[in-house]
Amino acid sequence: MTFSATRPARVGIIGTGNIFDRYVNGMARYPRLRLTGCADLDHARTLKAAADHGIRAYASVDALLGDPGVDIVVNITPPLAHAAVSAQALRAGKHVYVEKPVAATVAEAAPLTALARECGVLFGSAPDTFLGSAAQTARKALDDGLIGQPVGVTAFVTHSKAETWHPNPGFLFAPGGGPGLDLGPYYLTSLVNLIGPIATVSGLSRIGAPVREVTSPGRTVESIEVTTPTHAAAVIGFSSGVIGSLQMSFDVWNHHLPFIEVYGTDGTLTIPDPNGFDGDVRLRGNREEQWRTLPPVFPPSGPLDMDVQMLRGAGVDDLAGAVDGAPHRASAELAFHVLEALEAVETSSGSRQVVELTSTAERPAARTQ
Ligand SMILES: NC(=O)c1ccc[n+]([C@@H]2O[C@H](COP(=O)([O-])OP(=O)(O)OC[C@H]3O[C@@H](n4cnc5c(N)ncnc54)[C@H](O)[C@@H]3O)[C@@H](O)[C@H]2O)c1
Repeated sequence: MTFSATRPARVGIIGTGNIFDRYVNGMARYPRLRLTGCADLDHARTLKAAADHGIRAYASVDALLGDPGVDIVVNITPPLAHAAVSAQALRAGKHVYVEKPVAATVAEAAPLTALARECGVLFGSAPDTFLGSAAQTARKALDDGLIGQPVGVTAFVTHSKAETWHPNPGFLFAPGGGPGLDLGPYYLTSLVNLIGPIATVSGLSRIGAPVREVTSPGRTVESIEVTTPTHAAAVIGFSSGVIGSLQMSFDVWNHHLPFIEVYGTDGTLTIPDPNGFDGDVRLRGNREEQWRTLPPVFPPSGPLDMDVQMLRGAGVDDLAGAVDGAPHRASAELAFHVLEALEAVETSSGSRQVVELTSTAERPAARTQ
């Protein structure tokens, strides 16, 4: 079945929480996608979300999955529900796109890609920001050899300060969250897109501040007890021989470090926040006096303010395109490899051993438009 030739892909969303509006507004930018309806465990939320956007409110998740008028399910439930909801949707014969992490653990995620193949459907996963103009401009610079052979990378996963803006951020400080599984996927996915697959991981992690005060407007909790590591440092060994140093922290509130830098034999590339699509990619050759901003390989998705950069939908369009025969870039296979690397930081911290990854992932096809 192809979509774009005959009709748009019909999308149903499961989970109508904080990120829901950004999916609805973001997906509206893609003519290939048409949002049909939504479902949530909390039916009052389903009704409000559906009324806000003039879409169908399904009575339950089962009702949405039983509708033959839904082609793609977007799973934006919290991480601990990702695997079960995705599995149910795949078994219902739907193509599925799930928010990051692809599942809360490697063990939960492992059967899902095979399940998708058995069910004859495609399975995609966030993040999708590496499809944007910044990551693709950096990718082209590397592919064109502008910094020579990459030798090392630095990535610094910063604090999202969710205590100050998310009404119920508890899941971000519990297993399945933390800087590693909440924001780490944006950084490691971007790095796999640039450098290729990861072979080994070693790291140390800990809980920093054990209780977080929630100050967000409209909050439904006043404080959070932290039950997952919030500060980690890791050494990432890429299969190509590139060595990465990765810091991930919900304890560092202010800093001067870059988001991602790639160091090559001929120069350095500095890359903006991989939690957004666009921004300046800057390069400085080893013997150049100044940094220069590279022209983007295609126009940015919009202004650099967070309201635009946080819009979602590119990965759902990528999935619909893959059903139509285009390369599947934001694939669950890629997300699984990234999850395995992030979980390995914890494993290594516990065992004090270097972890060799069992999975790999191809660099996704580069985008030129
Ligand atoms: N909030 C953000 O800015 C943001 C940004 C990027 C990605 N994400 C990701 O999106 C996902 C959702 O985040 P959120 O902030 O919207 O969470 P949220 O807690 O605000 O909303 C989750 C919704 O899912 C519903 N839900 C829970 N279990 C369910 C189940 N089994 N079946 C159906 N509905 C269920 C809840 O009732 C809730 O309405 C997470 O994976 C998160 O990492 C969030």
